Amino acid sequence: MEIRAVGALLRRFRLLTWAFPLYERYVAFDSKVRKRHAEFNENRANDLPLPPPHMIMKVAGTPEPLFYFQGGELAAESIVAILSRHDIEIQNLGAILDFGCGCGRVLRQWRHLDAVEIHGTDYNQALTKWCSRNLPFARIANNRLVPPTGYPDNRFDFVYALSVLTHLAEPLQLTWMNEFRRILRPSGVLFLSLHGDSYLPSLNEQERAIFLKGQAVTRFERSEGTNLCCAFHPESFVRKVLAKDFDVIDYVPEGATGNPHQDVWLLRKR
Ligand SMILES: C[S@@+](CC[C@H](N)C(=O)[O-])C[C@H]1O[C@@H](n2cnc3c(N)ncnc32)[C@H](O)[C@@H]1O
Repeated sequence: MEIRAVGALLRRFRLLTWAFPLYERYVAFDSKVRKRHAEFNENRANDLPLPPPHMIMKVAGTPEPLFYFQGGELAAESIVAILSRHDIEIQNLGAILDFGCGCGRVLRQWRHLDAVEIHGTDYNQALTKWCSRNLPFARIANNRLVPPTGYPDNRFDFVYALSVLTHLAEPLQLTWMNEFRRILRPSGVLFLSLHGDSYLPSLNEQERAIFLKGQAVTRFERSEGTNLCCAFHPESFVRKVLAKDFDVIDYVPEGATGNPHQDVWLLRKR
């Protein structure tokens, strides 16, 4: 059966939490995918290593190496671009954190920022282990699904979370926002990518009604932290609830070019 058809069936019949990891594994162990990985690795012999397909699947929703590389580059470009629009040059920052770094899709893009402390953390231990072994320029940590992290107060100039709050239910999103505020220095900046208006067509009628009332929508709340759990964020919810203790510096609908079609929010700690 076609990979896409298996995915569609699982979603349609909501075969839930236990089946989703099996589906991710199944997709990643497809022989054609593994062949493309081998070819990609041969051609990129001098670059940082490529994570195995099942890890790429976990962070990108597809095991394809091209998406991992190109998407990572685009994501880093979108971060650099929005920061510089606000006169922040990433190479001049002291310490930055990739929250929910996965297997380093974006983290690896900072390998040439010699003067910046590069940190990554994720709650998935297999992914952080891979990063620790393969991205030696970065300081990698492991956190739990719920805060806090082990970082001291005011530790970072910049924290970004690409497609991470999109996989948590609202109460946990809010506690993580408090933790980001704690570990950012005063006036430090937070970059979030979220599922906004562009996802409206993929919501069912009931979800759409909630979204249009300005409330966050979450699917599969009991699978928080996995890609099965999916959260959607109307603009007014972000402004009034999620980012209430931050100043909104910028909002770019569908601006997360490495995580299509997510919105970008740039927030400053008060
Ligand atoms: C869709 S992936 C995105 C990975 C990475 N940010 C990227 O853009 O390539 C979501 C990531 O968030 C991580 N994650 C989910 N909940 C988390 C939490 N509470 N703390 C840290 N990481 C979390 C997952 O393990 C996964 O690596």
